[in-house]
Amino acid sequence: MKVTGEIPQDLNGVYLRNTENPLFESIGRYHPFDGDGMIHMMSFCDGEVEYRNRFVQTDGFRAEVDAGQALWAGLAEPPSRSLREGKCARGRMKDASSTDIVVHAGVAVSSFYQCGDLYRLNPHTLDDLGKETWGGAFPSAGVSAHTKVDEHTGELLFFNYQTSAPFMHYGVVSADRQLVHYVPIELPGARLPHDMAFTPNYSILNDCPLFWDPELIHRGIYATRYYRDMPMRIGIIPRFGASQDVRWFECRSTFVLHWINAWEDGDEVVLDGYFEDDPSPRVATDSTLEARMFRFLDLHSMKSRPYRWRFNLRTGAVTEGYLSDTITEFGMINQANAGLPYRYVYSVVPTRGMFTFDGLIKHDVRTGREEVLMFGDGVVGSETVVAPKPDAVDEDDAWLITFTSDVPNDVSHCVVYDAKALNAGAVATVQLPERISSGTHACWAATSR
Ligand SMILES: [Fe+2]
Repeated sequence: MKVTGEIPQDLNGVYLRNTENPLFESIGRYHPFDGDGMIHMMSFCDGEVEYRNRFVQTDGFRAEVDAGQALWAGLAEPPSRSLREGKCARGRMKDASSTDIVVHAGVAVSSFYQCGDLYRLNPHTLDDLGKETWGGAFPSAGVSAHTKVDEHTGELLFFNYQTSAPFMHYGVVSADRQLVHYVPIELPGARLPHDMAFTPNYSILNDCPLFWDPELIHRGIYATRYYRDMPMRIGIIPRFGASQDVRWFECRSTFVLHWINAWEDGDEVVLDGYFEDDPSPRVATDSTLEARMFRFLDLHSMKSRPYRWRFNLRTGAVTEGYLSDTITEFGMINQANAGLPYRYVYSVVPTRGMFTFDGLIKHDVRTGREEVLMFGDGVVGSETVVAPKPDAVDEDDAWLITFTSDVPNDVSHCVVYDAKALNAGAVATVQLPERISSGTHACWAATSR
């Protein structure tokens, strides 16, 4: 691969990115969330890099490869159009394991937003290591989009959701991959939570008022609606708490796709995330299907902005407000600060009307200062991960890494920036063998080959 600039000698580990890559022509209409999960891997070792990509070897992917065609209809079609049964929260869907990727106990684990199985991969070779069952103890209820790995304890925290009571479960997996906690979380009905947050002592779940119309689910119609008169509820549970230990707090109505971080401050749990002013932007009744689909994907229409909630566990009081007026989402932090007070989050500059990222923003949540770096005309990036330097003193003594896709020039790169010197531009740019799709969720793991 052609390298421009110099790959830092002290950057050692793997950058992994998931995202949807459709292999076969879709049944009916294609939604951007339908494609098969593909992991892109760039490993860094003593100034050298290695790149691989591989489809996640899900049951659904293998069945479609065997059949030579798509067997499951996607989000834009009714589940009844699928040719096979399927699982996941909505039913009759392909579990594409295409949403997120984390590294837990030295193994990469991919996940699916609609509560699919977790698939294990070698983080360097991307070899398929089969499904994660946590010692065979995990019931086949699936896991939601985002699991959380607490670097300080090695534990993995997760939740899932269903269309029947109790509608949610929450669990903890130990550093040696044993399911050590799994409890039902009672919700008023079927919900669509996407992400969670944690502090050393608490896990933070949510009940946002954007969910499938409950009157239609039993008819097999999964119509997402935003109930703007209902509050958002945040559930705070001790990490090993029982179902009845959840404390629910009511907040201003919204839908939160991703949280940034959380920490404990005296009697309060502080939670940062992206508040959507309008989770369900209205479109004209005669608008195209594409326009109707993208209203749930265009962060500019939803007006997604950094926001802070404070929950007082002693008094029950909630205070909340914006951290910034800038439209953004998909925040990454130095994982050493996950669950603890932090200063910097690196979020994306969303493309207007699309589900791609034109640049990145470094927010200083202490001072409000923001630095913006744009990838260039027609160039879109991925979630930018934070790789701390070995001798780091400050939180932003780190490298930032992203995959970019230059659509006009049909080429992709892996780009490394110095988090402290964004204005200086790329430190190293590695040209990939082929252009790759635009993408979202990614992670960094300081593991050696
Ligand atoms: Fe996500």
